[in-house]
Amino acid sequence: MNTERSKVDVILGIQWGDEGKGKFVDVLSPQYDIIARFQGGPNAGHTLEFNGSKHVLHTIPSGIFHENKVNLIGNGVLIDAYIICKEIELLRAKGVEPRNRMKISDKANLILPTHRILDAAQESSKGAKKIGSTVKGIGPAYTDKVGRCGLRMKDIFCSNFKQKYEDLKNQHLGILKFLKFDVDNYRIEDMSLLEYEKAWLEGIEELKSFEVIATEYYLNEAMKQGKKILAEGAQGSLLDIDFGSYPFVTSSNTTAAGVCTGLGISPSSLGRVFGVFKAYCTRVGSGPFPTELEDADGEKLRKDGYEYGSTTGRPRRCGWLDLPALYYTIMLNGVTDLIITKSDVLDKFDQIKICSEYKINGKRMPYFPSTDELEHIELEYHVMDGWKRDITKAKTYEELPEKLKQYLNFIQQKTQTPISIVSLGPDRSETVFPKC
Ligand code: GDP
Ligand code: IMO
Ligand code: MG
Repeated sequence: MNTERSKVDVILGIQWGDEGKGKFVDVLSPQYDIIARFQGGPNAGHTLEFNGSKHVLHTIPSGIFHENKVNLIGNGVLIDAYIICKEIELLRAKGVEPRNRMKISDKANLILPTHRILDAAQESSKGAKKIGSTVKGIGPAYTDKVGRCGLRMKDIFCSNFKQKYEDLKNQHLGILKFLKFDVDNYRIEDMSLLEYEKAWLEGIEELKSFEVIATEYYLNEAMKQGKKILAEGAQGSLLDIDFGSYPFVTSSNTTAAGVCTGLGISPSSLGRVFGVFKAYCTRVGSGPFPTELEDADGEKLRKDGYEYGSTTGRPRRCGWLDLPALYYTIMLNGVTDLIITKSDVLDKFDQIKICSEYKINGKRMPYFPSTDELEHIELEYHVMDGWKRDITKAKTYEELPEKLKQYLNFIQQKTQTPISIVSLGPDRSETVFPKC
């Protein structure tokens, strides 16, 4: 039998996160055999809605509600044993047993309770320059990973795991003492360090009953057998550690390159890259945001789009769609297909603006500006009339208002990339597929 080796398709966010990646991993999961998260950790909050229920996932891949699919947590992902076990408990309460559907990389690094305290300490030491981290320990845990002193899933099976844990914890406590951070009074998820540590270690015991394997071999073998794989990104390309608005970024490669290192597959294995973006922009946390609206329109986007963080509940900053940012992230990721979400949030606007160009000293910027340059650019906007109609009930692309189609065509023309999916609401079913 000569089965053709399959490619790995990718879904990732091409703005500042929260674009609606979770919904589309769930929507497309029936077409795949394996759904694999490749980076990030519990800083992510991926929302899925179907049959009148809403589910938010942080570490577990968004294909978990589909039977007979493998949901894989790759080596590039960070795992907090307490948070993932909470997710597991919630899924069990909903009748889904994740143990039968999940595989975890033995090389995925652990977030220790003290990583979370270090995150808080580093944020508070930055004062007004703070990143606005989700304070889930992401920066400190990735720092230990590249510093070659992190703990991996593989370690939880070692007889001296507890000692390894204590050694790393004590290193962290030393740093916290140096920073004069009041560890004794710091609460993690409303628990003291000792209480959180106890729950975290119970989580470690629970994780031992999961399939923890060299997922890079599993995935490469699956590709040989022609199995279909979908890689799920977290955060967004403008939060990428290399290409985002540094230092206001997360600590991983959120772009398509991260799929190779985060799953152990070769660049030639990548297939379609679905870039998810909102019909406008949002950002949580600090950092430049060129099209940000601090007026009634921004408030309307936040209210109608219900723009509050899925992980932290923080209000998201809102602004108009930013095409120069999309040109950059489409290029970085080699996006083959665009997925636009939340056009329905623009239903009531008389006029809709799209930033089409960045200028500096009156001249078009031929590249995406650095964080400092972003403070000084001028923006050129294209203004379009709103469609002023409820679009959430549309079942086909053809039913959409002409003015929305013009909006979509403008984006396709400017980005030279087809829009393959249009999302009209949070539910799985609120989705239409234009014929490209
Ligand atoms: P993710 O992190 O990229 O998975 O996105 P989040 O789940 O953090 O945030 C996206 C939010 O928008 C969630 O509350 C989704 O349920 C919701 N959502 C997704 N697509 C649409 C859409 O087309 N319209 C509306 N109104 N909401 C959507
Ligand atoms: P999903 O996967 C939106 C932001 C934080 C902060 C910066 C660094 O749901 O799209 P970190 O906790 O990683 O140290 O925070 O990145 N951030 C996100 N913003 N969506 C996310 O994930 C995010 N994960 C991190 O707000 O500005
Ligand atoms: Mg999110």
